[in-house]
Amino acid sequence: MIPVFEPVISEDEIEAVVDALRKGEVSGTFGKYIEDFENEFAAYVGCKHGVTVNSGSSALHLAVAALDLKPGDEVLVSSSTNIATALAALHNGAVPVPVDSEGMTWNLDLDLIEGVITPRTKAIIPVHLYGHPVDMDRLMEIANKHNLIVIEDCAESHGATVRGRMTGSFGHMACFSFYANKVITTGEGGMITTNDDAFAERVKLLRNLAFTQPRFKHELAGFNFRMPGFVAALGLAQFRKIDHIVEQKRRVAHRYNEKLKGVKGLQLPAELDWAKNVYWMYGIVVDTKEFGIDRNKLVEALAESGIQTRTFFCPMNQQPVLEKMQGFRDVPCPVADALWENGLYLPSTWNLSDETIDIICDAIRRAPNWEG
Ligand SMILES: Cc1ncc(COP(=O)(O)O)c(C=O)c1O
Repeated sequence: MIPVFEPVISEDEIEAVVDALRKGEVSGTFGKYIEDFENEFAAYVGCKHGVTVNSGSSALHLAVAALDLKPGDEVLVSSSTNIATALAALHNGAVPVPVDSEGMTWNLDLDLIEGVITPRTKAIIPVHLYGHPVDMDRLMEIANKHNLIVIEDCAESHGATVRGRMTGSFGHMACFSFYANKVITTGEGGMITTNDDAFAERVKLLRNLAFTQPRFKHELAGFNFRMPGFVAALGLAQFRKIDHIVEQKRRVAHRYNEKLKGVKGLQLPAELDWAKNVYWMYGIVVDTKEFGIDRNKLVEALAESGIQTRTFFCPMNQQPVLEKMQGFRDVPCPVADALWENGLYLPSTWNLSDETIDIICDAIRRAPNWEG
């Protein structure tokens, strides 16, 4: 089976973890590796502060917690995303409000934001989906006009840029994931980046059970979302290869583009002229009529050829867990619905060989004739 992704861990990363363990950098409250990883990653993103946590979901949860929202406050989220984006609002007593996608980059449609804002809207979490950045210059203008806090969900966009500027440096805070399939990984892990001193201090406090003075007396309900030291060591070693990994992600995508262009009925990923797409996952969207078979049949045909794929996200407007929430708004998201029905992503590990990509593309071309 060609897996949809595979973590690539090398000897230098293993050595870094062993070194951290030898130095006793075990838990998440001390150690040089945590500090170094936070500082180097934040500098790369173009932010003053980096705050490591134990997952991308924790990063989002913590960032929203830092806003001190009131029950019933609303947080706009990209409809097409991982559930973690919306759960960050839900777990903080706020209501996530989905914003439909646009059909080109599959990111949230900026033209729809102002139509869903209400007096209860306090924040927005745009997701840089599958590695293509949202136009953050425009989004910040809209957010500033309506006094919204912006938390970028950069779980899939490490290294992606908007007019040359890194995703994660535009919003009030940004949340990265280092899950196994992400651009760089720590196994499980995440980071909040921010240029705002007050938010940095707040999320650091809440990450660590809100310990203050005197120790063991707590004014705030914090969390233990700390990243262990030896995990940060893995992150730092991965981070030092990030330029190479991003370059390789782009090589993989360009090879797919070259081999799949001209296949009728397949929409390939975009890269708008102001954007650098890091192609976290190489997604395609099937037009059943034009291609000859539907997305599910294509998934089956590829599985039969030993190629693992994954469907696009089920949009937030169709999530039973959200629909049950008091105050959840039934916002129609026809584009995100269609992406969920017709989208899939292909094996996207950064060291995928050109030969393997060619095998996958041949299988896609043959799929409409598959007699399954
Ligand atoms: C867009 C998005 N947001 C948040 C997350 C959650 O990150 P984690 O798995 O590290 O909790 C993920 C993926 O895992 C994601 O793809």
